[in-house]
Amino acid sequence: MRKKLVAGNWKMNTTRQTAVQLARELVAAAGQETAVEVVVCPPFPYLLLVREVLAGSRIALGAQNLHPEPKGAFTGEVSPVMLTDCGCQWVIVGHSERRRDLGESHEFIRRKLVAAVHHGLQVILCIGETKPERDAGQTFQVVRAQLQDSLPALTSDQLQAVVVAYEPVWAIGTGVNATPEQAQEVHAFVRRWLGEQFDAKTAENLRILYGGSVNASNAGALLAQPDVDGVLVGGASLQASEFLAIIRSARR
Ligand code: 13P
Repeated sequence: MRKKLVAGNWKMNTTRQTAVQLARELVAAAGQETAVEVVVCPPFPYLLLVREVLAGSRIALGAQNLHPEPKGAFTGEVSPVMLTDCGCQWVIVGHSERRRDLGESHEFIRRKLVAAVHHGLQVILCIGETKPERDAGQTFQVVRAQLQDSLPALTSDQLQAVVVAYEPVWAIGTGVNATPEQAQEVHAFVRRWLGEQFDAKTAENLRILYGGSVNASNAGALLAQPDVDGVLVGGASLQASEFLAIIRSARR
């Protein structure tokens, strides 16, 4: 039985004050949540502040990015060692905003994935097609290539530290979410691929999240799909009431 996971990607939002406030509201209402696993991913400068607020709660801390090297001359980068040192248990890898806008290659994403797992972090690996790719009927091809270029670098044992987030690029920040059927279709495809590439147990256990314009109104129907094991939430994770409602809809 896969436990549902609700993760908030705060992206480049919040201030010291609003980050702490948001975390406090989440801890007050969902700090002892047991039915759903909850993760928040604040911007780097607020990780330690948010960590203090989360202390003693069951809400886990995640980062939005990392560099694959443990240390060295990489100006402006943050290493997996620093993340664990700051109390992170999770990290997002391969987000389309980094693949597309910052030109991150498949190879770089694979190195990040391997480094994160090696350093004991759990990874949310993002994949997903653009609108032109979907319109051209290439969704499965694109998603398969993104999986193929990263996950085979890990053993099935190491895959226990990974969740895949299907985030169609056309659904991110647009207000147009994938329909539950569209999400289910791709999630089932990912699970079949995992079964073929690894083994039945890995395919059965690995959680596949949906992300892209998830909110309190559409989360329930998405989460009701058999292969939707959670959600990765951007905009709606910045409002405590909205994020809490999404957590509640994952309980069912
Ligand atoms: P939105 O929920 O704002 O569409 O963002 C989704 C996302 O990119 C989460 O990583």
